[in-house]
Amino acid sequence: MVSSRQTHSILVLPSESCSKMSIAVLSSLGRCGFLAFRSPVGLVAVRHAQTAAAPAAEPRIKKFQVYRWDPDTPGDKPRMQTYDIDLNTCGPMVLDALIKIKNEMDSTLTFRRSCREGICGSCAMNIGGGNTLACLNKIDTNTSKPTKIYPLPHMYVVKDLVPDMSNFYAQYKSIEPFLKRKDESKEGQEQYTQSVDDRQKLDGLYECILCACCSTSCPSYWWNGDKYLGPAVLMQAYRWMIDSRDEFTEERLSKLQDPFSLYRCHTIMNCTKTCPKGLNPGKAIAEIKKMMAMYKDKKTATA
Ligand code: SF4
Ligand code: SF4
Ligand code: FES
Repeated sequence: MVSSRQTHSILVLPSESCSKMSIAVLSSLGRCGFLAFRSPVGLVAVRHAQTAAAPAAEPRIKKFQVYRWDPDTPGDKPRMQTYDIDLNTCGPMVLDALIKIKNEMDSTLTFRRSCREGICGSCAMNIGGGNTLACLNKIDTNTSKPTKIYPLPHMYVVKDLVPDMSNFYAQYKSIEPFLKRKDESKEGQEQYTQSVDDRQKLDGLYECILCACCSTSCPSYWWNGDKYLGPAVLMQAYRWMIDSRDEFTEERLSKLQDPFSLYRCHTIMNCTKTCPKGLNPGKAIAEIKKMMAMYKDKKTATA
């Protein structure tokens, strides 16, 4: 339904300028939607206008079905809880919907988030069947279809949408994700320089935000997550192996020789498909395998 609305604004003109204003100007003001009259402070022009208000928007109710489980409630079992949200009053991203639920509907809903712009990696979850970042994932505006939200798959759950990342972080720590030099006596005295070409080799690797979307979409990681390092951690292992300033490449390779750490990757490529940052951990793993083959050949030759 369209309604009309009248608006008025008042303009006070000082007596001096008003005295110079011709009758013609005043009458033209009147035609343009102004009324003018004299007052003790001068000429008062009242502008009035008719504007059409925007039509009242029809609510666009979207259902969000969210995984819930509270370990602090005795006997609580995992279940899906449905929340109806009017998309007209919600931001465009799934994280906006979750924040709206928490702020306005159900403060007990638990999830991680921080930066809300795809940098911290903390809002990783399974949305509509795929692992992604809630803050970068646009709400599907098809209101006939509910959006289902689960924690990252095959992880222990701390509460609701919060997965236990302990194993993932322990694996990351195990690859020693920092620069290692044989001689550390000069540490802090000068910069370790790198050519432009060598620096470019790190592009597509250093941008990883360790959200774990890739690892938790990998079937090999689902079944052997305790022994297989998974795509996110292996890509970071590769990042340090090919850093021209690092001097522990062979030692890093030798730590991955067992049948599980690296070789559980069967090049299914779910990892690359799901990465919300557009990175290619599957390719990084393939590169490690090539380096490993050369490393093993070299070892055999020198044995
Ligand atoms: S490679 Fe992509 S999906 Fe995997 S942890 Fe890094 S940013 Fe996340
Ligand atoms: S390519 Fe390897 S790491 Fe990536 S999903 Fe497949 S098995 Fe997992
Ligand atoms: S809130 Fe930081 S990546 Fe989504």
